[in-house]
Amino acid sequence: MAVLDIKKYPEKVLKQKASPVRDLDDLVLKLIDDMIETMYNAPGVGLAAPQVGVSQRLAVIDISSREAEVPLIVLINPVVLEREGEIEFEEGCLSIPDYTAKVKRAENLLVRTSDREGRTVEIEAGGLLSIAIQHEIDHLDGVLFIDRISPIRREFFKKRYRKKQAS
Ligand code: NI
Repeated sequence: MAVLDIKKYPEKVLKQKASPVRDLDDLVLKLIDDMIETMYNAPGVGLAAPQVGVSQRLAVIDISSREAEVPLIVLINPVVLEREGEIEFEEGCLSIPDYTAKVKRAENLLVRTSDREGRTVEIEAGGLLSIAIQHEIDHLDGVLFIDRISPIRREFFKKRYRKKQAS
């Protein structure tokens, strides 16, 4: 396994819509292992393939540091079947260091995905897991959490980012 380099805002790959994973071949399985190691090393609770420069619909999530009973989840070509309710949570992202903001998302989620054995599974998620899954699926569509905050907050973020770059 290897720790991969995490792409940071405003790298282009983060804004691209990712392609479906076609085969769960050795290359993809190794990428999954490397993404898991990279997520734990960061440390983070989720990581999507575009964040390591691979524009494929693949993500890993482990929120067990916050909710111990929730297992590691691998999402391969995930599709949201149902969403319900609303929840607001202070989000961050490994691709946007040193910045967090409140984001509104669906509170409950039903998702269909492949697991790493290639089986189709449905996941019912609520609360933090629901938020994490939506955040990672957003990455697969080239959407960052800063795209889901108010225009004023986004402008503040960009101003702060430019200041940081200049210093
Ligand atoms: Ni993220």
